[in-house]
Amino acid sequence: MNNSFPREFVRALPKAELHVHLEGTVDAATLLALAERHGIEPPADDEAGINAWYRFDGFPAFLERYLTVTSMLRDPEDFAFIAERYLLAAHQQGVVHVEFHISACAHLIENNKPWPPIYDAIVAGCRRAEAVTRISWGLIPDISPHLPASECERAMTKVLDHDLTGVVAVGMGGPADTWFTDDFTPIFRRAKSEGLHSVSHAAEHGGPREVVFAVEQFGAERIQHGIGVLADPAAVQLLVERGIACDVCPGSNLALQAVDSPAAHPLPAMLDAGIKVTLGSDDPPMFQTNLLDEYERAWNWCALTKEGMRQLAANSLEASFAPADRVSAWMTQLEACDSDR
Ligand code: ADE
Ligand code: ZN
Repeated sequence: MNNSFPREFVRALPKAELHVHLEGTVDAATLLALAERHGIEPPADDEAGINAWYRFDGFPAFLERYLTVTSMLRDPEDFAFIAERYLLAAHQQGVVHVEFHISACAHLIENNKPWPPIYDAIVAGCRRAEAVTRISWGLIPDISPHLPASECERAMTKVLDHDLTGVVAVGMGGPADTWFTDDFTPIFRRAKSEGLHSVSHAAEHGGPREVVFAVEQFGAERIQHGIGVLADPAAVQLLVERGIACDVCPGSNLALQAVDSPAAHPLPAMLDAGIKVTLGSDDPPMFQTNLLDEYERAWNWCALTKEGMRQLAANSLEASFAPADRVSAWMTQLEACDSDR
């Protein structure tokens, strides 16, 4: 049995959060405020009701509600507010850099919104938080493959035609069902030609072939989740040899029943296999979690030491798309963190 989780030590470690969806940071109070502001019938009348609504029996039910929340973000200031709010909360947990996944295709296609005001507002919200905390951030507009590739391409073209200053990568979220039958690769090719990185969800509910496909077809440099990869040693080797990190969200995996129990989670085996793992909270209020809770799960499930916590934080900094000089300054700070804390 390892000791109790050293929350204050982990809080003090400079950390990056590389797997969190901006729209998934809308907590119950914010959702009620959005409903009130826009005259929308909320899914429940009070915070307890919203938090009960934020319980899912699997990915399809989650996606439906996630898209409902996404559709309640109507004005640019809604986006600015949630971006600022999340960065301030992350800062309180010792996070120095956040890469926000943004469900761009849902806003542009399903909600028929223009991209420039959304992007500009998210940047404004991030800058407000940065001005107070010096937190660093980057954006990952992503593809929702529950929509046809042709529509996603139309939406992502609008994203890529606008200001890319705050954008670090293009991502792939949502269900992987249509990947193998529809062609999303031109979007990633265009992103690369703009100097952007690529990331992709893969092997969250599916198997290792999603990881191989994401790396080979989308040029993914990081995988979100990847928890199904261990079934294929060649796919594991691909990740290890190329140093492709998996941004794992243990609380999300439990909440969406991607695993049956903590004991069934492959996190310890992924670490043992030499995969570079970073921790993320995915959609934190929807899964009743935050980043420190995710470190606590790793501590308990993998029987890690404080040095193991430091290594996970180091992985997150090294796998981030933050500028190299900032990463190296954070690494120096990380190494100086006193483990007697
Ligand atoms: N979008 C938001 N959360 C997600 C998840 N857990 N998997 C895939 N897409 C998502
Ligand atoms: Zn995710």
